[in-house]
Order: sequence, then structure tokens, then C-alpha cells
Amino acid sequence: MKTRYLLAIESSCDETAAAVIAIAEDGAFALRSSLVASQVDIHARYGGVVPEIASRTHLEVALPLIQDALREAQIQRQDLAAIAVTRGPGLIGALLVGLQIAKAIAFAWKLPLIGVNHLAGHLEAVFLEDRTPTFPFLALLVSGGHTTLYRVDEHGQYKHLGATRDDAAGEAFDKAAKMLGLGYPGGVQIDRLAQQGDPSRFPFPRSMMRQDQGLDFSFSGLKTACRNTLEKLALPLEPSILSDFCASYQEAIVDALWQKTALALQLQSLSSVVVTGGVAANSRLRSLFQNQCQKYGYSLFLPSRRFCTDNAAMIAAAAVPPFLQARFDDLSLNATGKLPLDPSALPRGPRRPPRSTQNT
Ligand code: KG4
Ligand code: ZN
Repeated sequence: MKTRYLLAIESSCDETAAAVIAIAEDGAFALRSSLVASQVDIHARYGGVVPEIASRTHLEVALPLIQDALREAQIQRQDLAAIAVTRGPGLIGALLVGLQIAKAIAFAWKLPLIGVNHLAGHLEAVFLEDRTPTFPFLALLVSGGHTTLYRVDEHGQYKHLGATRDDAAGEAFDKAAKMLGLGYPGGVQIDRLAQQGDPSRFPFPRSMMRQDQGLDFSFSGLKTACRNTLEKLALPLEPSILSDFCASYQEAIVDALWQKTALALQLQSLSSVVVTGGVAANSRLRSLFQNQCQKYGYSLFLPSRRFCTDNAAMIAAAAVPPFLQARFDDLSLNATGKLPLDPSALPRGPRRPPRSTQNT
């Protein structure tokens, strides 16, 4: 059987990533390399992602990273059958760097081009694992810019069920971390500090929890509660109080995510759930979802942590179905900052001002 190789590039926010997958004739695929050049240290000193710096850094690191990805996969450029790239959503300048590089490579090496929605990448990341779900399943996508529930009936068929009306879960982690002076990105720091903490010490709110409030989320009240609670405490927080604070805050986010997921599973009569996106790397989220799914008889699918946070392997995985069906893009493909996965879903809730640090 002839193996075909696909190169994928991801540059929607502050990680430059390149990956190679091998696709067998029957459509089965195996990851051959997946490299991520993180810009976290560069942006940390500004307390968030600086779009212009992200774009410039992508430009500097992308080509050597692609070469390394090919080398690690032990293939030559002549072995490639296609190139996939994230076309949105994300920071427009950052996206454009990856897209222009992919288009240049497609043109120069005469390769078909596949534009991938970054969110589809997060949802398809689970297919990089040995244990994969069968359709249909529920997917909870929790990242820096998105908190959305989808019903997934087939590769590429995502029905929007509900989403956050204000802050995304990752944003809620990052903003609290900033208030606590923990630096950027905050999710990982809160996760780490919360391990020693008491999650019941601070009674943080869970918003929109009534069943009649449907499958949307809200995390802006939690952020306000975080600020109000901090105002009453002596700063800087003592280590044990800081741990309890992080554990309580994290519990409020993860508990709200589980409550809505459980409701969606019930309403959609589904028995499998995938949780993906950067926040799905959170330790407490992983243990709570594991416990609850076991208790209620649901099958849980969590991509490994490296496939939850931004990477190019997930972009490659999402490109496999269009590759097999020869659905390619031409060189007029453009990057799009906002790119919903399910365009039929109408935006709900109050309109929000643009974020200064924008994740996808
Ligand atoms: O998917 P991702 O890498 O990038 C976007 O597409 O946004 O997600 C980044 C988000 C950030 O808000 C980061 O704080 C959060 O994921 N995150 C975590 C953890 N690791 C990353 N949040 C909680 N716990 C973690 N361990
Ligand atoms: Zn992402």
C-alpha cells in the first residue's frame, strides 16, 4: 500500500507548529512528527499575547521548524502529497504568516493546499489517539477564546449546541492568574497551585446553571467574584490561601463545564464525549470528567495534553478527510480572524468589545 505524507502548519496565536502525518491508502493515518515552537516566554513579559510580536516570531521560526518536522519524519519534500494550514480563526497577522508560507510551499513544490479551521483541528485532535470515539458524539471545546459544545455527527460535521456568552474558560483562568500576579499563561499556573488547595474554601459562583438556561455558559460573573474576593484579602496571598483560592476558582470553572456537558449529553441522547482545547489539559478537569463519566456510564475521550493545547498534528488530522476526498483549496485562499465552525449558529448574548489579547 502506498503511503502519502501530509505537512501541516499552525500559526493562529502564539505557537508556531509543524507536523507530518503518514496516510495509508485506507485513510488510516499515523503521526510522524509534531513540533511546537512556543512563544510563551516572549509574551509573558507583556502579560498576554502581543499580536505584532507573534506574527514576527512566526516568520522567524516557521521555515526552520518545517525543515525539522520533515527531518524528524524522515522524509524529503518530494515525498509530500499535500500541505495543510490553519486559515482561521485567530490573530489575523499570525494566521497570515502561516498561510502565506503554506501557499508559497504549495506553489513551489506543486502540492495541493488544504485550509483548516483551527477549531476543527481541536475537535479532530482526538483521532490522533489510539482509542477514538465513534460518531455521533458530544464535543466540549475549551480554549483561550472558545467554550463551545458541539454535536459531531461525522468528520467535519459540527452542530453548535451552546457556547459562552462572555469569557471563554481559558480566558477566565488567564484573567484570574493575572489578578493573582501569577503571570501568563495563567491556566497552567492555577492548575499547579490548585493541586495542594482546598476547592471548598472560597464559594465562587457557577452561572447559568438552571436547566431552562440551556447550553450556554457564562464566566464573567466568576471573574468579578474573583476580583471582589481578592479585594477583601491581604495581598500578596499567603501560599496556603493562594492554593485554596486557585483550587476553588478552578473548581467553579470545571464544575460549570461538567454541569453543561452532562445536560448536553442528556438532551442529545449521546453516550460519548470528547473534551479538547487548551483547558482540556487541566488536571482537575481531566479527573472530574473521568470520575463523572465513569459514574454515569458515559465514554470519555481526552486527547493527550500535547494535542489539547495548540499544535499542528491536530491540523493534519483535520485535513485527512478533505485530503482523501481531494477537496483542495486554491492559492486565493485567505486567512479569516473569525471563522465559526457551524455557520448556522446565530451569535447570542451581549456583544463584547474586542479583546486586547486574543486567543483562539
Ligand atoms: O487551545 P489553546 O492552546 O489555544 C487557543 O486556541 O486558545 O488554549 C490556550 C488556553 C489558555 O487560556 C491557557 O491558559 C489554557 O488554555 N490552558 C489551561 C491549561 N493549559 C492551558 N487552563 C487550565 N489548566 C491548564 N493546565
Ligand atoms: Zn487553539
